[in-house]
Amino acid sequence: MATVRSSSEGILSDDRRPQREELIGLLTKAYWMEIETVMNYVTNSINPDGVRAQEVRESLEEDIQEELGHAQQFATRIKELYGVVPSSVDFTAEQSFLAPPEHQTDIVHVIKGVIEAETGAIEHYNRLIEFTDEIDPVTNDMVIAILRDEEGHRRLFEGYLREYEAEGLA
Ligand SMILES: [Fe+2]
Ligand SMILES: [Fe+2]
Repeated sequence: MATVRSSSEGILSDDRRPQREELIGLLTKAYWMEIETVMNYVTNSINPDGVRAQEVRESLEEDIQEELGHAQQFATRIKELYGVVPSSVDFTAEQSFLAPPEHQTDIVHVIKGVIEAETGAIEHYNRLIEFTDEIDPVTNDMVIAILRDEEGHRRLFEGYLREYEAEGLA
C-alpha cells in the first residue's frame, strides 16, 4: 500500500516534492560552499607569514571547526528532506579569491578573500531563508542560526581590514 503523505506534513508531504527538490539543490550548494571554505581556511590558517598574520591565522583556525559544523548541518538537512549528500566527484571549486597570494606576508589578500567568501555565504543563506520562509520552518530556523555565524565572521574580518586601511596598507 502506497503511503501518501498529506500536505499537513509540510515540506515532507508528497505534493511538496518539486519545492523539496529545489530546496535540496540550494542546500547542496550551501554544503559545497562550507566544504570549500573549510579547505581554504585550513590553507590560510597555515600559509601566512609575519607577526601580524598570527591573529588572522588563529581566528581562521577556530573558524574551521565552525564551518565544518555548518557543512554537517546542511548535509543532515539534505538527508532529512529525502535527498542524498554528494561525494567529492561532484565538487567544483569556486573560491579562486582564497588561493595563496604571491607573497605569504600579504595578509590583506587573505582578509579580503575571507570577506568575499563570507559575503557569498551571507547572500546564499539569505536566499535560502527567503525560499524556506513559508514552506519549511525547520530549514529556515537552521539557516538563520548559520547566517548569524557568517555575519559574525565577516564583521571580525572587516575589523582586521579597517586596521590596514587606517594605515594606508589596504
Ligand atoms: Fe559557514
Ligand atoms: Fe563563515
